Amino acid sequence: MAHRTIPLLDLRLHAASRATQQDGPLLDQLARPLHDLRISVTDRCNFRCSYCMPKEVFDKDYPYLPHSALLSFEEITRLAQIFVAQGVRKIRLTGGEPLLRKNIEVLVAQLAALRTPDGQPLDLTLTTNGALLARKAQALKDAGLQRLTVSLDGLDDAVFRRMNDVDFPVRTVLEGLEAAHKVGLGVKGGLKINMVVQRGTNEHEILPMARHFKGSGMVLRFIEYMDVGATNGWRMDQVVPSAEVIQTLQSEWPLRVLAPSAPGETAQRWAYADGSGEVGVISSVTQAFCRDCNRARLSTDGRVYLCLFSSQGHDLRDLLRSGADDTQLSNALRGIWQGRSDRYSELRSGLAADTGPAARRVEMSYIGG
Ligand code: GTP
Ligand code: 5AD
Ligand code: SF4
Ligand code: SF4
Repeated sequence: MAHRTIPLLDLRLHAASRATQQDGPLLDQLARPLHDLRISVTDRCNFRCSYCMPKEVFDKDYPYLPHSALLSFEEITRLAQIFVAQGVRKIRLTGGEPLLRKNIEVLVAQLAALRTPDGQPLDLTLTTNGALLARKAQALKDAGLQRLTVSLDGLDDAVFRRMNDVDFPVRTVLEGLEAAHKVGLGVKGGLKINMVVQRGTNEHEILPMARHFKGSGMVLRFIEYMDVGATNGWRMDQVVPSAEVIQTLQSEWPLRVLAPSAPGETAQRWAYADGSGEVGVISSVTQAFCRDCNRARLSTDGRVYLCLFSSQGHDLRDLLRSGADDTQLSNALRGIWQGRSDRYSELRSGLAADTGPAARRVEMSYIGG
């Protein structure tokens, strides 16, 4: 996989040229703070969802990262600590499928032990496809994971098997969810369900999914299918706008919109008027949320990506492995964030009209969403 990176030297120069901005809150070019860090721990997955890892591309010949390219748990934790010192308060582990990374609970324990400068633990969570969850839930909880998000695109077994494209049964994911609930990962709405809605594929699962999770204490979120990466053959007519999802839900149950629980969050929250919980919609296509985007991504091989739709990452692994101290790493990170001006989703419609060849965007399975 040929990912373009910004050379190390440029990073150092960039950081040095910003040396006067060392103090005060770290803000990017659009005055957005750094708050969330999404850490991808593997670029592999045991599913082949066509909107993410289509089988024709992600076959046995696909150039996955070699083991030597992966950051070790110690390297990830060290970088995470640097990010926390620069403002990060929430860490989400992603993949590919993060539960495929051997001994992932060891990393969870290391990250759970990190503290913010004022001594607080982080908001630590993970997004999984749930296939290995029944086996892993207890170990994750014991390691200090606080909450969890499970991707689930439908309840109908045939639809689910078709969407994961490896004939994986929905029952196993539901058992994983039950296990997560049992061990206490669902406390205070801590268990969330992500459903990517695709026109003509699973839109008829919207109401059954809502019915199933309504009153369960779990928060179901409907995600607009996004044009991430370069392999999923995305088309606008496959997107089901969130407004339509809300209308479909309202036809059965009255809803009222809720205030955001945190600045810059991805989902718009809605409450069932009968008090039986909440649902969310993530509308990156029809209602971009770049204005308050406070997320950075760390890839499995140690590159920082500032936007889900980036084609370039900033390599921190070489700096780390060349013996850089914490100040050098912090300066590099500050320079990277201060130079950021991404707002892809806001610009998407304008870009569609662009005639020039677009740079090849990074794949979702590599960057973790
Ligand atoms: P919460 O902590 O529950 O708010 O999770 P989250 O929504 O930040 O993360 P999750 O992994 O559940 O992602 C939900 C959906 O939002 C996925 O489809 C992600 O790819 C997408 N998503 C997450 N962050 C961004 C972002 O910065 N931009 C865009 N366009 N989509 C994002
Ligand atoms: N559009 C929207 N969401 C996607 N996800 C993966 N690919 C896409 C896409 N093209 C979702 C997964 C998971 C989350 C991290 O991102 O289903 O829940
Ligand atoms: Fe795997 Fe998640 Fe991508 Fe599906 S969406 S292929 S489960 S990483
Ligand atoms: Fe942030 Fe990029 Fe997503 Fe906009 S498209 S919200 S800038 S990650």
